[in-house]
Amino acid sequence: MPAERSNGSEQIPLLHEEDLKGTKTEQSRWRRRSWSEWLILCTLCTVGIFAVVHDLWSRLHGNATLPADPKKAAKQILSASPVIDGHIDLPILVRARFANNASAFDLNGDVVGHVDIPRLKAGKVGGFFWSAYVSCADWAGYDEGADFLNSTWRVRDTLEQIDISHVLISKYSDTFQPALNSKDVKKAIKKGKIASLIGVEGAHQIGNSIAVLRQYYTLGVRYITLTHTCHNAFADSCGTLPEKWGGLSPLGYSLIEEMNRIGMLVDLSHTSDNTARQALTYSKAPVIWSHSSARAVHEHERNVPDDILALIGTGKGKKDAVVMVNFAPDFVADPGKANVSAVADHVDHIAAIAGKKHVGLGSDFDGIGSTPVGLEDVSKYPDLIVELVKRGWKRHELEGLTGKNLLRVMEGAERVAKEIQATGAEPSYEIYDKRTDLPMRGRDL
Ligand SMILES: *[C@@H]1O[C@H](CO)[C@@H](O)[C@H](O)[C@H]1NC(C)=O
Ligand SMILES: *[C@@H]1O[C@H](CO)[C@@H](O)[C@H](O)[C@H]1NC(C)=O
Ligand SMILES: *[C@@H]1O[C@H](CO)[C@@H](O)[C@H](O)[C@H]1NC(C)=O
Ligand SMILES: [Zn+2]
Repeated sequence: MPAERSNGSEQIPLLHEEDLKGTKTEQSRWRRRSWSEWLILCTLCTVGIFAVVHDLWSRLHGNATLPADPKKAAKQILSASPVIDGHIDLPILVRARFANNASAFDLNGDVVGHVDIPRLKAGKVGGFFWSAYVSCADWAGYDEGADFLNSTWRVRDTLEQIDISHVLISKYSDTFQPALNSKDVKKAIKKGKIASLIGVEGAHQIGNSIAVLRQYYTLGVRYITLTHTCHNAFADSCGTLPEKWGGLSPLGYSLIEEMNRIGMLVDLSHTSDNTARQALTYSKAPVIWSHSSARAVHEHERNVPDDILALIGTGKGKKDAVVMVNFAPDFVADPGKANVSAVADHVDHIAAIAGKKHVGLGSDFDGIGSTPVGLEDVSKYPDLIVELVKRGWKRHELEGLTGKNLLRVMEGAERVAKEIQATGAEPSYEIYDKRTDLPMRGRDL
């Protein structure tokens, strides 16, 4: 009501006479202070303001002072930014040991391998890519044929690996939470869950078909490694085999375009150097190496050479990417020499060439037969962070290493997909030209 409103203004305390008087006496008291008192007050104020601004600045830029004890420092870093591992092979372990029978083993119990729930928690893991891996045909003792036409049943096996990942993520839904994008990952971490992403480890697993790529995406897969240990219809693998395509095949370029369009990350681990170089340059979206280390630190075909690391970054002629360091002792050091400091050497080297914003962790746990001393399973990540704190890595740099660098790359790929889709770009309808079943002939109808 209007009457009440006009009365109301009288109740504003600052306009009461008493308060005005009070202010006056207060003012005269202030005036009586000596110059020296003023000086001390001003100094204290300046120091106070500086401290607050400095703290805010540090928090924003992630440089807030770490505890002097590296163990405590690592703990703080991992609480703010838990590990998001680029490559964990739990699904293939369940396939190989338990024929994908999720009842036959207990992730809370005494699990064979490097990964179980208690150790994931001890290791401050906030997320990982479940690798939906099936081997190349030759690895399994089959001949896939010169044109890769003979092993499309690998699609079935991949679907089974995606399925067992979904089954386990939902069986242990108190711990795991499915994640389809960078936002989901952050949400899961905020809730104290382990963000669960899925990656497919080799384009041999898509049955020579770009349509299968799209369907994997709808099933939640968010990266495809362009090759595993074999060449395929899209690209050459690393290793001693003579090159088949000299990097990407013509269809491989189309595959990358389609991956960019739908928002599937291009993973360059396992690829030949030519494949990696061409894909890195051609991809519109940032790319990853889900589980590879540095070749200059230890000579191994699966590691990334310096000239390719030099193409990574945000400057002119460079592409954003994250190289997620693999812990496989063969990749890390000479026999018997792989330990925490050797792994840290790879992290340091990739950081030195590509930049600290372009290195991550992709342990390959459950996919490697042995482990470095001190990094025996998923509970040990904090010890690697301790080592890097000792080497002078700063808080924000380590938060990048453990997860934020990968999240930035995911966000980049999500943005590119949105932009391409906004142009109305059509899906790729290309058919691998060596296929004999399409286009259809009369006899098939
Ligand atoms: C799965 O494993 C459980 C527990 O070992 C066993 O009881 C069950 O028979 C298995 N199911 C199949 C289909 O093998
Ligand atoms: C296709 O694979 C089968 C085994 O699964 C093998 O016997 C056959 O020789 C292969 N065909 C070709 C063309 O390589
Ligand atoms: C790792 O091994 C090297 C020798 O290869 C040794 O000098 C170093 O101290 C070891 N580091 C750790 C953390 O054990
Ligand atoms: Zn691998």
